[in-house]
Amino acid sequence: MKYTAVLIALAMPLLGAPAHASPELAAKSKCMACHQVDKKALGPSFKDIAAKYKGNSTAEATLVDSMLKGAKGKWGKIPMPPQKIAPVDAQKLTRWILTL
Ligand code: HEC
Repeated sequence: MKYTAVLIALAMPLLGAPAHASPELAAKSKCMACHQVDKKALGPSFKDIAAKYKGNSTAEATLVDSMLKGAKGKWGKIPMPPQKIAPVDAQKLTRWILTL
């Protein structure tokens, strides 16, 4: 019994980790040079993006595509250049953005 409790205690921080992984990934992927979570910067805020695509069943595919291939004319005059990130990271970032 005691041993199990110790194991659970040790596992807790590991289980908590993914919740913070995406903001860190966004910073590491240099997204934050043009984006902020809740304020418009050079690009739209991640919260505005989440609001725009709320309830859109193809949102995930659209946003992953925008990150990997770039986007223009959807939010304003400034285009987003294609981002040099792995497709799996683009998917993680998209899922995180859509929860905001
Ligand atoms: C050089 C500045 C710049 C960087 C770096 C950048 N973005 Fe953008 N992003 C923009 C701009 C500008 C737009 C609006 C483009 C438009 O109007 O279509 C945008 C749009 C978006 C959109 C909405 C696309 C759509 O289809 O509506 C998402 C999602 C997004 N960015 C995520 C990211 C992520 C994640 C990163 C990091 C991997 C990133 N951006 C890095 C400038 C940037």
